[in-house]
Amino acid sequence: MRVHYRPAIATDTAGIAAAHAAAHRETWRGLVEDRDLRPGSSGDYLARWTQRLSDASVSVFVAEADGQIIGAGACGAVDGEGVILDILVLKSMQCRGVGTRLMGLMACDLKARGHGSVSLWAPERNVVAIVFFRAIGGDIVDAAPTGGCKGLPALRLRWESLDDLAFWNGSVSPSHRAQTRRARGEQSPSAAERTACPDAFPPASAALRRD
Ligand SMILES: CC(C)(COP(=O)(O)OP(=O)(O)OC[C@H]1O[C@@H](n2cnc3c(N)ncnc32)[C@H](O)[C@@H]1OP(=O)(O)O)[C@@H](O)C(=O)NCCC(=O)NCCS
Repeated sequence: MRVHYRPAIATDTAGIAAAHAAAHRETWRGLVEDRDLRPGSSGDYLARWTQRLSDASVSVFVAEADGQIIGAGACGAVDGEGVILDILVLKSMQCRGVGTRLMGLMACDLKARGHGSVSLWAPERNVVAIVFFRAIGGDIVDAAPTGGCKGLPALRLRWESLDDLAFWNGSVSPSHRAQTRRARGEQSPSAAERTACPDAFPPASAALRRD
């Protein structure tokens, strides 16, 4: 299936909010209490994305397949440093390079806005996301015991050079990604890590180990 990437426009708001709500449920099922997965329990996605799409300091990109929004990312700045505000891909479209490409697009955008580095916070329990960010070059630089959504422990990941992240804004195949990681002396996630469901993952500390 061909995936198309572009900056978001106002009429995408409902599609992005729906994809975000679905990605949230898919990611957190089994990892948080069921009551925290009820619609609305994580805030109003429609309001959040409406606000972002009307804020000139925030850039939003979407990934589309068959006319449906299957992924989105938002970036901006906090205290003068580039930040990734959100990144999501529907489960049915994950592990195909969509998240990588969205991160690369956001890196290019932040570079064009004059930033040199970028960071984000991710809940420690979201091991798939942490493995993903590490796989595309993010370094864990900080931790906060209750800094994540729903007060969960969170890790801060940072790309010292936006150029390294902007590299992924291209047609990069999985084998190319693996080669690049090898050239950088980084390891690919193991087959078990790649195929495991999030709730079957090993403890975050094991998955985060840099071998
Ligand atoms: C995190 C997320 C954006 C990754 O998007 P994606 O399109 O699946 O990622 P990609 O296909 O570009 O993967 C890039 C690399 O990340 C790693 N990776 C991605 N998903 C993985 C998984 N399920 N298991 C292990 N490694 C994974 C791999 O190393 C992969 O590279 P490879 O295919 O060459 O081995 C996606 O899983 C998602 O939307 N999750 C739900 C929302 C979320 O958690 N957002 C982050 C909030 S902090």
